[in-house]
Amino acid sequence: MSIVDTVKGAAQAAVQGAMAKLVPLAPDSWIPGGVPDPLKRRQHGLIGKPVSRLDGMLKVKGAATFAAEFPLENMAYAALAYATIPRGRIATLDTSAAEAATGVVAVMTHKNAPRMNAPAVFGTSPSAAGPADLPIMQDDRIHWNGQPIAVVLAETQEQADHAKSLIVATYAIEPSTTSLAKAKAAGAQPALFMGEPLLTEIGDAEAVLAAAAHKVDHIYTTPRHNHNAIELHGASIAWVDGELVIHDASQLVTMEAATIAGVFDLKPEQVRVTSPYVGGGFGGKCLWDHQILGAAAAKISGRPVRIALTREGVYRGVGGRTMTEQRVAIGATADGHFQAMIHTGISAVSPHNNMPEAFIMGTRSGYAADSFKLSVETVTMNMLANTFMRAPGESVGTFALESAIDELAAALQIDPVELRIHNEPEKDPTSGLPFSARHIVEAWRSGAERFGWDQRSKTPATRRDGEWMVGMGCATATYPYNRMPGAAARITLHRDGPDGVGAIIEVAAHEMGMGTSTTTAMVAAERLGLPMDAIEVRYGDSNIPGAILAGGSQQTAAIGGAVIAAHNALVAKLLKLAGNDSPLAGLALEEVGSEDGGLAKLDEPTRREGYASILDRAQCDSITVEENASQPLESMHWSMHSHGAVFCEVRVNTVTAETRVSRILGSYDCGRILNPKTARSQFRGGIIMGLGLALMEETQFDERNGRIMNPSLSEYHVPVHMDVPEIDIIWTDIADPHTPMGAHGVGEIGITGVAAAVANAIYNATGKRIRDLPITLDKLL
Ligand code: MOS
Repeated sequence: MSIVDTVKGAAQAAVQGAMAKLVPLAPDSWIPGGVPDPLKRRQHGLIGKPVSRLDGMLKVKGAATFAAEFPLENMAYAALAYATIPRGRIATLDTSAAEAATGVVAVMTHKNAPRMNAPAVFGTSPSAAGPADLPIMQDDRIHWNGQPIAVVLAETQEQADHAKSLIVATYAIEPSTTSLAKAKAAGAQPALFMGEPLLTEIGDAEAVLAAAAHKVDHIYTTPRHNHNAIELHGASIAWVDGELVIHDASQLVTMEAATIAGVFDLKPEQVRVTSPYVGGGFGGKCLWDHQILGAAAAKISGRPVRIALTREGVYRGVGGRTMTEQRVAIGATADGHFQAMIHTGISAVSPHNNMPEAFIMGTRSGYAADSFKLSVETVTMNMLANTFMRAPGESVGTFALESAIDELAAALQIDPVELRIHNEPEKDPTSGLPFSARHIVEAWRSGAERFGWDQRSKTPATRRDGEWMVGMGCATATYPYNRMPGAAARITLHRDGPDGVGAIIEVAAHEMGMGTSTTTAMVAAERLGLPMDAIEVRYGDSNIPGAILAGGSQQTAAIGGAVIAAHNALVAKLLKLAGNDSPLAGLALEEVGSEDGGLAKLDEPTRREGYASILDRAQCDSITVEENASQPLESMHWSMHSHGAVFCEVRVNTVTAETRVSRILGSYDCGRILNPKTARSQFRGGIIMGLGLALMEETQFDERNGRIMNPSLSEYHVPVHMDVPEIDIIWTDIADPHTPMGAHGVGEIGITGVAAAVANAIYNATGKRIRDLPITLDKLL
C-alpha cells in the first residue's frame, strides 16, 4: 500500500470512527440537520461591538471582592510550612514553639488533621478536579520538595507567618528522581492526555525521511514554568451548620465543589464554592492542597479560615508547565512539499498525576504531509504535580515545529510564509475530517502585508542598525476549538428592567479578567433582544446548575451553547403563556425570534408581542427556564481550531547579546470575534506570555534535591512593560457556521507560535539558531 493510500485509509477510518459514535442531534443544534438557530435569523448588532468590561469600574474602585478578601466573622489566618526534601518521611515534627507563639489558634499536621479522602484527579471523571491522587496531610510521607507539612492558624497573618517559622522538621530521606537524565534513564512511557493516547502514525515517516532529498532533524527543549497570576491563590473558608462554603479563586467551581465534597464525605450540595472574580488563572487556579487544608483547619479549629498563599507558596504548592524535549524532523522535496513530518519527544510528569505537555496537538492538523509520526512519551520525576498552563502543549509544541519549518525554509531558500502556505492541507491531514472553518492563508497574507514582511532580509545577519542586528521571523499559531459537555444556563425573565423587562442569566462560569461576564451579557442581550442594561449575569458559584470549565479556551462557546438552549426553552414557554389572545397565537417555535423586548414572527415582524405584555396577561412577575446545552457534537464532524500567523521583529545587541522585540503582529482566524475590545486583550496577553516563554521564563529546579530555587518574581522573570512593544492585532472575523455564535476560542492561541516567531527572528538577525528556551543572552554570546 502506498503512503498516499495509507493516509486515505487512516482518514477514512477516522471519519467512519467518528460517524459510528454519533447520537441523535439535539433540537437546538447548529449542526446541519438541526433546527435553524434563531440567532442567525435576527441580528441585534451587539455582537462585534467593542464593549468595555462591565466589571472594570468595580475593579478600579477596589469594590470587587476577591477570594482572600471575603470578610468572615471570627476568622483565623493560615500559614503553611513546607517540606524541604523531595521524597521520604517526616522523622520528627516539633510544633511546640509554634503552638506557644502569640496569637496561635491551632497547628495542624498529619497527626491531628481530620481524616480525608484523596481528591478525585482531574480527567478521571467529569466532576473531578484534584491535581494528583495523593492523600493530603494524612501521613508522614513526603512526595515533593515543597509539600505542606503543617498549617498554622493565628489571629493575624503576621502571627501565623511567624509561628510557622518556629516549626522544626527532620526527615528520613528516601531515593528520588530529581534530574531529567535520571528520569530518562529509567525509561519513557507512552503518554495519555485526558485519557487519549498521544500517538499518530500515518505511513512510515522514518523511512520517508531517510529517503527525502531535503530534511531537517533537530531537538528542541523547553523548561519548567510556574504560574504567576497577579492574584495569589487564596480562599476564605467557613463551615456553616456542617456545610462548607469556600470563597475561592477558581476556574471550575462546580467540579471543585464536587471534588471537595468527596474529600470530606459530603454530598455535592453541601459544598458551595464561589468565585466572582479571579485575578488571572491561565490553568493554575484550580484545586490544590491549600483549599482542602484550609477547610480541614477550619474544621478542627471551629473558626472560619483565610488561607492566602505567598508568592513562594504558589511555587511550592501550585503546579506549572512541565519541561519537554522534542524532536522535529521534516523531509521535503526541493520545492518544499512535506513528505515526512516527525514530531516526537518526552515530557516530565510526577508519579501522582498524568499531565504531559501534549506538544503534538497542533502538528496533527497544522500541515499536509505524506507521512506522519507524532508521539509524546512521559518520564517520571519526584516533583509537584504539573498542570495546565496557557495553551499547554501548543505553546511549547509550536516552538519546536515552527522553528523546524523555519530551518527547512532556510535550507531550501524558500520564504517561510510561502513554505507554510505551500503545505496548507485541504482537510485535517491526520483525522481526515473536513475543517469547519479555516482561513489561515488569509491570515498569513493579510498579516504579511500589514507587517511589511517583504522588508525582511533573505540572508541572515545582514541588517544592522548601529550596534543592533535586526531580523524578522514568523510562525503559525494554533489552538483547538473546544466545547465541553455539562454546560447549562438558567434565564429568569422579569418585570424589573429598564422598560419593564429584564433578564437574569445564570451560568456556572468564571470571570478571570478576560471579559466573560461582559461577553455573556452581550450574547444574552443579543439573543433575547434586550438592551445590555436589562441583563444581569450571575456566575462563579457552584450553586448555579451545570458545569462550565474556564479552560481549554472553551468557556465562551460553552456559555453560548447553554444560553442558546435556555433561550429556546424560554421562547417555547412564552409562546405557551401568550395563549390564544396573542398575535403570536398558533406559531411554532421555529417561526419565532426574539426582537426589541419581545417575540416576533420571523418573516412577518409586525406580528409580535412584547415580553411585558405576555407576562402581564399571564399574570406572572417572572418566569424561569433552565436548560442544558446541546451535546457538543460539532468536533466529531469537523476538525475545529483557532488559527493565526505571528510576525515579529527583533533587535539583538552585538555587544551584550540582549534581545529586544521591537515589533510584533498577530493575525488571527478565530471565527467571529464577539467583543473586539476584550478579544484584542486576550490576544495581546497571550502574546506577552509568549514573549516570556521565548526570552525569560524558566523555573530553576535544583536537580540535586528537587527544590525550586527561584520562587519569586525577582528571580523568575516575566515580561514587564519595557519588554513589550506595541502589539498589533488583526483578524479575519469569518464566522464558523458550526459553532455557537460563530466563534472560536481566543483565550490561549495568543501564546502559541510566539516563541518560534522570536527564535526565527533571532536567527534572521544573527544567523544563530537557538533550540533551547528561554533564549537568554548567554546562549547568543
Ligand atoms: Mo487554560 S491552560 O485551559 O486555563
